[in-house]
Amino acid sequence: MSDPRWPRVAALKTPDAFRGHLSRSDISLPFDEVLAPPGSSPLAQALEVDGVRVGNRFCILPMEGWDGTPEGEASDLTLRRWRNFGRSGAKLIWGGEAVAVREDGRANPNQLVIRESTLPSLEALRLALVAEHKDRFGALAEADLYIGLQLTHSGRFARPLDRPEPLVAYAHPVLDRRFPSTRALSDSDMNRLVEDFVTAARRAADIGFRFVDLKHCHGYLGHELLSARTREGSYGGSFENRTRFLREVVAGVRAEVPGLAVGVRLSAFDLPPYRPGSDGVGVPDGGDGYTSAFGLLLHDEQMNTALEDSRAFLRLLRELGVRLVCITAGSPYYNPHCQRPALFPPTDGYQPPEDPLRGVARQIDATARLKAEFPDLVIVGSAYSYLQEWLPNVAERVVRDRRADFVGLGRMVLSYPELPADVLAGTALRRKAICRTFSDCTTAPRNDMVSGCFPLDPFYASRPEAARLKQVKEGLRV
Ligand SMILES: Cc1cc2nc3c(=O)[nH]c(=O)nc-3n(C[C@H](O)[C@H](O)[C@H](O)COP(=O)(O)O)c2cc1C
Ligand code: SF4
Repeated sequence: MSDPRWPRVAALKTPDAFRGHLSRSDISLPFDEVLAPPGSSPLAQALEVDGVRVGNRFCILPMEGWDGTPEGEASDLTLRRWRNFGRSGAKLIWGGEAVAVREDGRANPNQLVIRESTLPSLEALRLALVAEHKDRFGALAEADLYIGLQLTHSGRFARPLDRPEPLVAYAHPVLDRRFPSTRALSDSDMNRLVEDFVTAARRAADIGFRFVDLKHCHGYLGHELLSARTREGSYGGSFENRTRFLREVVAGVRAEVPGLAVGVRLSAFDLPPYRPGSDGVGVPDGGDGYTSAFGLLLHDEQMNTALEDSRAFLRLLRELGVRLVCITAGSPYYNPHCQRPALFPPTDGYQPPEDPLRGVARQIDATARLKAEFPDLVIVGSAYSYLQEWLPNVAERVVRDRRADFVGLGRMVLSYPELPADVLAGTALRRKAICRTFSDCTTAPRNDMVSGCFPLDPFYASRPEAARLKQVKEGLRV
């Protein structure tokens, strides 16, 4: 059952219907009514990034599948996902998926880990992606394909074995209740972690990745450090201290791996943590004095002020010579409606407190504001999947208006990997493959199953987990 509070996007069949709904709901989301012919589309234009000509404006966002081996290597499922990234036709591959720089930073026991013993397997992921891309788009197609690896430590959300083992930057008034038994990382722990990130970056370069993303989003450690205002010592308090981790890792990478480019994925604004209210609809769970956020946004009218933190951060990136930035927001753990707008919440979530299109528009707006102020940075936007049929039209307009340089795709590529190629070729979309934001790709791993598009990808629909997932969802319905 879809949420009756707002229309399904698929029912907004004409530009007038889509525009009418946006206007009645006071959601600002410009779009191109008619897509440009193939070749002349803004989405088909190449862009130079860190000295590399990247062939088009589609970017694959990082998405892990909870399907690595206990040792941190890729499985056949991981390989299949990366092959799908290659067949998408997108020319910027932002990180593939979050790869832990060490064991205690894994978000689940099946997350990939980068260490000497896993390098052949991680290299095989990149090679499989490239091989698929060349197979589909020709032998020369590799030349303008730009592939990075996302490096992470999961911090508060670490679960390296079968139970949470949260390692935190500071005591958090709301999240400590949800993730108890935390251990605070000391400054010497942080110093070691800097070294681990630099070693991981060197290893990524050794196996052919052109850039690394130093992950600063979604509540994981890099992001949590940015709001560690109450932390004492050299990694907390002032802006300078809260960004020490970033600065030291960048300095280490420059010194040890000079040929490797660096990017940063950033949650540019954040909402308080949410929880289900008495009717199941999400409500903020922070109280009036909530301040534990980087870029705290309590009301949309405050976006300009909320972005102050990100402006300071992007100025720093510019000073450090980091040009490649991927903008996202919030966290999938404590405010998923902000981070990945969806009609259907994951089973451990809450009913959306707003029209998910508002969440999409919010991320596009924040990204556009930052792009306007930092035109020299290469900026990737996120959270387009809920647009469904209207994704190409909004994406084309965003790039045409230079509100972002690249359009990042997450869930849509799990259900419909070839969407970028179809849009670029001017082919009609395969409607049955369009992601309808059922959230099964999140519900499955939250219940210890691999992630994948169980509802729409026949490969996952026929796996044994599909039946288990159905039972989990039905159990919740009674
Ligand atoms: C199954 C799944 C796994 C994800 N894994 C990651 C990840 O490893 N790293 C990351 O930065 N974001 C991750 N994300 C977030 C996506 O990159 C993206 O920001 C989000 O899905 C919103 O984009 P979309 O609307 O196109 O899906 C994940 C999302 C999903 C659905
Ligand atoms: S399970 Fe499939 S349809 Fe549902 S949100 Fe994930 S990709 Fe989209």
